[in-house]
Amino acid sequence: MCGIVGYFGNKNAVQLLIKGLKRLEYRGYDSAGIAIMGNGSFTVTKKAGKVRDLESLVKDSSISGTVGIGHTRWATHGEPSDLNAHPHTDYTGKFTLIHNGIIENYTVLKKLLEKKGIGFQTQTDTEVLVQLISAIYHEEKTTFEQAVIIALQKVIGTYGVVIMCSDEPNQIIAARLGSPLVLGVGNGEYFLASDASPLVEYTRNVIYLEEGEILTVGDDGYQIRKLENNQKVDKKISQITLTLDEIEKGNFPHYMLKEIYEQEQTIVDTMRGRLILDEGTVHLGGIQDHLLRIERARHYYITACGTSWHAGLVGKYILEEFAGIPVHVEYASEFRYRELVIDSRSVVIAISQSGETADTLAAIQKAKERACLTFGICNVVGSSISRETDCGIYTHAGPEIGVASTKAFTAQLSVLYMLALYLGRKNGYSKKDGIELSHALHDLGDRVHDILNISDQILKVAEETVDADNYLYLGRGANFPVALEGALKLKEISYIHAEGYPAAEIKHGPIALIDDKMPVVFLAPHDQTYEKVLSNIQEVKARKGKIITFTDRITSDLEALSDHLIEVSVSHPRTFPILATIPLQLLAYHLAVLRGCDVDMPRNLAKSVTVE
Ligand code: AGP
Repeated sequence: MCGIVGYFGNKNAVQLLIKGLKRLEYRGYDSAGIAIMGNGSFTVTKKAGKVRDLESLVKDSSISGTVGIGHTRWATHGEPSDLNAHPHTDYTGKFTLIHNGIIENYTVLKKLLEKKGIGFQTQTDTEVLVQLISAIYHEEKTTFEQAVIIALQKVIGTYGVVIMCSDEPNQIIAARLGSPLVLGVGNGEYFLASDASPLVEYTRNVIYLEEGEILTVGDDGYQIRKLENNQKVDKKISQITLTLDEIEKGNFPHYMLKEIYEQEQTIVDTMRGRLILDEGTVHLGGIQDHLLRIERARHYYITACGTSWHAGLVGKYILEEFAGIPVHVEYASEFRYRELVIDSRSVVIAISQSGETADTLAAIQKAKERACLTFGICNVVGSSISRETDCGIYTHAGPEIGVASTKAFTAQLSVLYMLALYLGRKNGYSKKDGIELSHALHDLGDRVHDILNISDQILKVAEETVDADNYLYLGRGANFPVALEGALKLKEISYIHAEGYPAAEIKHGPIALIDDKMPVVFLAPHDQTYEKVLSNIQEVKARKGKIITFTDRITSDLEALSDHLIEVSVSHPRTFPILATIPLQLLAYHLAVLRGCDVDMPRNLAKSVTVE
C-alpha cells in the first residue's frame, strides 16, 4: 500500500501535503515525495526514507504553490530509492504522477514505449504510466484528461492515481481502480487522499471515488466521470464521523484486526498477475533467471524465524509432495551455526516479512559462502534480505504494523503454494490438477471473506476460555505447522502459554496435561489422516479436555465430540492450512482483547528482530 495526497486551493500546498503524508505513513514509509505546481511548471522533491526526511529537504527551500500532490511509498516494483520514489515525471517534463497499486502489464507497455524511443529512469511500473499518458497526449494531440482516460483504458492492474500537467497548471486529475481515493470538499479548496485521515482537520465533507471513476479538479470545481464511457457521475457528499485514530485503523480497534481482515485482499494481491489459470501453473518473475538450479536442486533448505519459520514448515510439506525434492527447515539461528551439508546444488530459501531479521540475514550470508543459490520471500521491497539473496518472490501484503504477524504469514503461504504448483507441474502434477489448484488459489480471497464471518463463533470460544492458563493446538501433516502458528499467536499477544504438536504426539507425553481446564484446538479436515485425528480427539475427550475443532465439513462424529465445532469453508482440500490459520488468528486476538492485553504492541516484543 502507498499513501497519496493532493491539494487544490489557496493555502501553501507544501506543508499541507507533508502533514497529510505523515498521517498516511502507516500505509508505507520507505520513500516519499511531493510535486508543487508553479507558473507553468512544477517542482518535484522526493527521496528514500521517512516523510520527516522529505520535510527536512523542503524546509529551507523556496518551493511554494497552492496546487500539489504527494506520495509515501510501500515499494512493490523497484527498490526504495530517491529515483524510484514518487512522483514520477514523463520524458518531456510536462506530466507528474503518483500511484498506489500494481500495473500488471507494465512490461508490455514499457516495451511499446521504448520502441517509440522513450527512455526510462526507474524500475517502477508507475513510471510506465506517466510516460504512456505523455506519449498519448503528444502523439494523439488530446487534452490532458483524454490522455489520462486513454492511457488508463490500456492498463491492466490496480491504481489510485493522481496526475498534474504543466500545460494545465490549474487542474488535478485522479482515478481509481482497486486502490482507494477520497476527495475532500472544502470551502473553495479540494483535498485528495488514500483515506480520510489527512482530511479530517480541514473538512468532513468527502466523496469516495468508486471503481473506474476519474475525477478532475480545477478552478470551476470538480467533476467525476466513468472511465469506461466518460459519463458524468453525480455523487453525494458524505460526512466523516470517525476520529483520526480510528481512520488510520479503518474502523478497526487494532491494526492486528485490520490486518487479519485485509487478508481477503492481500492474498489476492500476492497472487495477482502470477497465476496462469488456463495452464494450471504460475509465472514467478523474480526467479526466472534461476529456474534450472531451482528445478534440479539436490535439496532445499528453508530458513526463517518465528511465524516465517512456521510458513517454511508448511512449505516443506507441500514442496516435498509437489516437487519431489527433499526440504529441510531450519531456524535461522540454528542454520548459521550448524555444520550443514550444503553446496552449489543446494537452494536456500529465506522467508522474512521485514527482510531485516538478523539471524535470517546471517543464515543467508552463510549460504552464499557455501555457493548455495539463495532465494528470498520478503514483504518489504529493497529490504536487506531481498537485496542479499540471488533471487526471490515478494509477498504483496503491504505494511504489517501489528507486531503479531498475520497477513504476511498467509501471503508467505500463498507464495509457497505457487512455487509448489510451479515445481509440481514440472514434476508430473497434471495440468487438470494444476488448473483445479490454481483456481482454488485464485478463489482464496472469497474463502477468506466467508471465514471472517465466523468471528462471532470464535469470540464465543474466547469468552469460554478467557481464564485458561494453557492451550494445546494439534494438527497433522501441513496442519501441524499451522497448529504451531496458532499457538505462537496466542502466546505472543494474550500471554497464555500454548503449545502446538503433531496430533499423534500427545500420547507421548503432552496428554498428561489434559484435564477439564485444558482447551485443545484440533485442526481436523476430512483428509487422509482424518480418522487418526478423530482418535486423538476421543483420547482428549476421555480425559475431559475442552475440544475446539476446526474442520472443512461439519459431520456428526465431530459434533458429538467437540465443545466447539467451527467450519472453515475451503474450495480445495489443499488450501485448508492457509484458511485454517485465520480463525486461529482471530482466537488469539479475541482472547488478548478479553484479557486486556496490548494487541498491537505486546510486552517484550518488537516487530522486527534486527539483533542476534
Ligand atoms: C510473529 O508473529 C512474530 N512477530 C515473530 O515471530 C516474527 O515472525 C519473526 O520475528 C520473524 O520476523 P520476519 O518475518 O520479519 O523475519
